[in-house]
Amino acid sequence: MAHILGVDSSTQSTKAVLVDADDGRVVAERAAPHPPGTEVDPRVWLDAFDTATAGLLERADALAVGGQQHGMVALDGTGTPVRDALLWHDTRSASAARALIEEMGGPQACADAVGSVLVASFTVSKLRWLRDHEPAAAARVEAVLLPHDYVSQHACAPGTTAFTDRGDASGTGYFSSRTGQWRPDLAAAALGHEPRLPVVVASGAVAGQGRAGQVVAAGTGDNMAAALGLDLGPGDVLLSVGTSGVASAVSTAPVADGTGTVTGFADARGGHLPMVVTMNAAGILDLQARLLGVDHAGLAGLALEAPPGANGVTLSPYYGGERTPNRPGAVGTWTGLTPATTRADLARAAFEALLCSLADAVERLVEETGEQPRRLLMVGGATRSPALRALAPAVLGRPVQLPPPGEYVARGAARQAAWTLAGTDDPPDWPLPGTVTLEADPTPHVRETYALLSERTAAWS
Ligand code: XUL
Repeated sequence: MAHILGVDSSTQSTKAVLVDADDGRVVAERAAPHPPGTEVDPRVWLDAFDTATAGLLERADALAVGGQQHGMVALDGTGTPVRDALLWHDTRSASAARALIEEMGGPQACADAVGSVLVASFTVSKLRWLRDHEPAAAARVEAVLLPHDYVSQHACAPGTTAFTDRGDASGTGYFSSRTGQWRPDLAAAALGHEPRLPVVVASGAVAGQGRAGQVVAAGTGDNMAAALGLDLGPGDVLLSVGTSGVASAVSTAPVADGTGTVTGFADARGGHLPMVVTMNAAGILDLQARLLGVDHAGLAGLALEAPPGANGVTLSPYYGGERTPNRPGAVGTWTGLTPATTRADLARAAFEALLCSLADAVERLVEETGEQPRRLLMVGGATRSPALRALAPAVLGRPVQLPPPGEYVARGAARQAAWTLAGTDDPPDWPLPGTVTLEADPTPHVRETYALLSERTAAWS
């Protein structure tokens, strides 16, 4: 029986799962932490990889690495990092992104060229920041990799040429999701000279050979790996409810949203993964629990005591500013409070606000792709809340599938490696037992009230 190793080199840690190649059943798993911060010496990820895969690597016949998107790993001629990697949530490159958009002829031209309107997260914005702020380090850059490329190369026999895949490449800002080709001219324009870029390897193709002779697959970005781990297909929409809210749709056609709301990533299967990210998600519930002096179980209990619409109490939840809609200066706003308002109403309004914001994200995806969701799935830590599970199908207005808790990025990387090992046209069918379908009567009036408040508050931010 063949064993496959899937690795998730995420922002917080490296997670490694060893699975059965036939059905994806987890045989063993281990993890190793990463240091906090938005800039990190990328060599710590290699140590974390070694720790997390110890005892598993030698049992694997094939492996692949999924990783946090966008990070800039800039290497000199000896393959040594010229500085710490700048990660996806490091925002120092925001003005660099604006400058690059301008140079490319504006937001729509930028989206047409690389699939997305650039923000600070994109690798290309970080390259421009490096050129402008650390020119000596920029001058020493010979090659630029994404986090997953750097870890994959470490997993391979010495001398292996660096490789990546189209999914993660589509988050660099110097790759066209539409053509599937690098735009080295854009990387050169940002950095000041042309760096060496990794070879783009197709999912299902062999990218290299592991240190113990294993087959190594291309790997991909974490969101693309999760889509593969959950076996998402065209028309599926995934909501991931964590610190930020991420709505992504598997689509057969590329998008180019000049408003910048929908980023036009490629997926790891030859299709596309348009995505909308909100900044306020699980944090809305954390704050509400704190304000009401309860834990998350208490918050859910309270919310389920109030009726849909929370007796008219409505929250616009953009506490820390918001990215979707684009209101960086927004604050949270409550309306509809009366002398009869209860703590239950306040709890319910917080869940409804979070779900309305996610529903808006799904709506933007539908507008951009022109495809109604075939299935709507929801994952992430916040889905542990019984209130979120009960209210989601009501507010989103359709059934919601809830897969069992799992390491879906690592599973997706493993599924890609199993596909590569098998040499088949498509990835293997791995059953996902335990997915439940949440259903409820839709409550459209909740979204209507939310939309009215959102419109009113737009003028204030
Ligand atoms: C997506 C993004 C994040 C990171 C997190 O654009 O920046 O989801 O991939 O690891």
